[in-house]
Amino acid sequence: MSTKRDNFSSKDKKYMKLALDLARARRGLTGDNPSVGCVIVKKDKIISIGQTGYGGRPHAEHNAILNCFEDPKGSKMYITLEPCNHYGKTPPCTKNIIKNKISEVYYSIDDIDVKMKGKSYSILKKNNINVKKGLLKKESLNLYESYYLNRKKKLPYVIGKIALSKNKIIYSDVSKKITNEISDKLTHYLRLKCDGIMVTSETLNIDNPKLSCRLEGYAQHSPKRIILDKNLKIDLKSYVVKSIKNGNTIIFYNSNNKIKKNFLTKKGAFLINQPIQKHRNFDLKKILKKLYLVGIKNLLVEGGDKLTKSFLQKRMFNEFYMFKSSKNLLKENKYVNFTSSYILNTKYDRYKTNFKLGTDKITIYKR
Ligand SMILES: NC(=O)c1ccc[n+]([C@@H]2O[C@H](COP(=O)([O-])OP(=O)(O)OC[C@H]3O[C@@H](n4cnc5c(N)ncnc54)[C@H](OP(=O)(O)O)[C@@H]3O)[C@@H](O)[C@H]2O)c1
Repeated sequence: MSTKRDNFSSKDKKYMKLALDLARARRGLTGDNPSVGCVIVKKDKIISIGQTGYGGRPHAEHNAILNCFEDPKGSKMYITLEPCNHYGKTPPCTKNIIKNKISEVYYSIDDIDVKMKGKSYSILKKNNINVKKGLLKKESLNLYESYYLNRKKKLPYVIGKIALSKNKIIYSDVSKKITNEISDKLTHYLRLKCDGIMVTSETLNIDNPKLSCRLEGYAQHSPKRIILDKNLKIDLKSYVVKSIKNGNTIIFYNSNNKIKKNFLTKKGAFLINQPIQKHRNFDLKKILKKLYLVGIKNLLVEGGDKLTKSFLQKRMFNEFYMFKSSKNLLKENKYVNFTSSYILNTKYDRYKTNFKLGTDKITIYKR
């Protein structure tokens, strides 16, 4: 039965929801390609599911067809994104669909990629396949927001994150831990979904962070470490420096310190000599452009107060996660305050949602 607002039945929606869940689960882990979910249904029975492979290949449709436990001839295929129709590193998915005599294809939204954009619809139609698009379109547009931004703007999708105490302290040398273990899990999930994580050498030298994803079994999907380090102040004994390997670290700098440059380059870090502007800082937009070119599509910024403020003031976060604990921290010895709440409340008011993780409160903002 179709609902009044569109022409899709509740069963169609159920299958597409499953396809969306499959795509969501692999999001951030498919390299240059978008994460797609696919479900194949024959006589009201799911005969296969597929996701885009890690790194972007094989495509979800290919995986789903391959995994069918019944002949897919005459089946319906539900795909979150328009199937590809051009020869790249793999043959077009439209060809695979036609070859396997799938009789109906439901896809949610057109691909934004110029090679594809809407062309699959007519290719499939011409081959007598019943094609419908627009099923759960809103949900898909939400899922592919970062992919659309990547392709349109040639920039990474940028997520900011900060943890603060009830009295807005982000660092205290009296107590290092601010939020709880469940919040830590969400932080590591964000690291898993991003291919780059940015901090300054200031924070790196104080906190000596690992910057890795520590969800069990996912360490190999840790993001690339991106360090802003104008004067090459980075501590060579830090965990990040000790664990440089296979181009997992990018350092933006503006310094003539040859000894440090040589040391870091020899270790395998990718050093980028970045000009500074009049106010003696890097132009963050230019840095984002360079990061996109080296394959960073989703960037997590775990800045201290100053870096976070720079991003917020320029409205360069697409999303921002504020983790707030229910405890006050003592304002003794050394401590750092979070000073940008007013920017979040004025410039990031398109979307705001709250939820609790134990006693911590998480607020997500979107600009
Ligand atoms: N609770 C949390 O979520 C969290 C997260 C990260 C860090 N922290 C804490 O925050 C504290 C550090 O905060 P912070 O505000 O002092 O440091 P920060 O924001 O991490 O870094 C500030 C420094 O980074 C450099 N910087 C910032 N924007 C830049 C740009 N556009 N171009 C080039 N360089 C730029 C500046 O260096 P110059 O001074 O050389 O100009 C500046 O002093 C640490 O104690 C750390 O523990 C807390």
